[in-house]
Amino acid sequence: MPDDAQYNLVTYGAAFADVYDEWYGASDDLDDVIALLTANGPRRVLELGVGTGRIAVPLAAHLRATDAHSTVVGVDESPEMLARLAENDPGRLVRVVRGDMVDDQPSDVFDLVFISYNTLFNVVERSRQRACLANVAARLSSGGVFVIDACVIDVSVIDPASSNAARGESAERRGAWLVRTTTTFDAASGTVNGNITSHHDDGRVAVRPFTITYSSPDEIDAMCAEAGLSLVERHGSWQKTAFDDDSARHVSVYRNLR
Ligand SMILES: C[S@@+](CC[C@H](N)C(=O)[O-])C[C@H]1O[C@@H](n2cnc3c(N)ncnc32)[C@H](O)[C@@H]1O
Repeated sequence: MPDDAQYNLVTYGAAFADVYDEWYGASDDLDDVIALLTANGPRRVLELGVGTGRIAVPLAAHLRATDAHSTVVGVDESPEMLARLAENDPGRLVRVVRGDMVDDQPSDVFDLVFISYNTLFNVVERSRQRACLANVAARLSSGGVFVIDACVIDVSVIDPASSNAARGESAERRGAWLVRTTTTFDAASGTVNGNITSHHDDGRVAVRPFTITYSSPDEIDAMCAEAGLSLVERHGSWQKTAFDDDSARHVSVYRNLR
């Protein structure tokens, strides 16, 4: 397993771009994702951490079908992920900005900004997550909407008296890969250090480290409120299932009230 110094040298995109679509491409029913994202009729859309364009490309196609002037912009720091996006978007429907999702958000005005699949947690300092959301609010039109899709970690299983950390292990098959994941979660800081060891059926072995900083729904609400974004809907999935204490994920919708 790599040590902490190595974790910091590998970006998420560099570690996952080669398998991202194979492993995660079918994670969500994109009709449901697009239905929720377009509920308020956005014309100018920004996705933070656009990755391979899993959502942005079909979303842009959906919007263009009825509005030739609609725009979808995607920010991502990873040349590896953006190279995949270019392959997935031969019609160049998505305008790409290579840069950091905190500092390099385009200065345009957007009706919808969204960040999916735990991507806010790739920003590993909480102060930077707060700055990211403040920058989102600054780019939203009055009444514009911010949507976040993120996991919920059940911190109640951790006994702070004995240890503030939890370890997890899982194994699953993803396409031609057997994927083993180990994680440690530090409840005090929100830091999740993970390592994925994957064995391909053809004999290849790859190690993919990641570090994220988890923020709970309440913490995200507080950061959004500070930025002037008010929670208007919270669901347990893109299918709008009820959000409750057992939800492993939340899809939350905020409105810019300024
Ligand atoms: C989990 S993937 C999500 C991709 C896409 N949003 C989706 O739902 O499939 C996270 C993406 O965020 C990008 N990313 C991570 N940290 C970033 C940062 N600070 N600025 C811009 N992009 C970042 C990674 O390169 C990667 O493409």
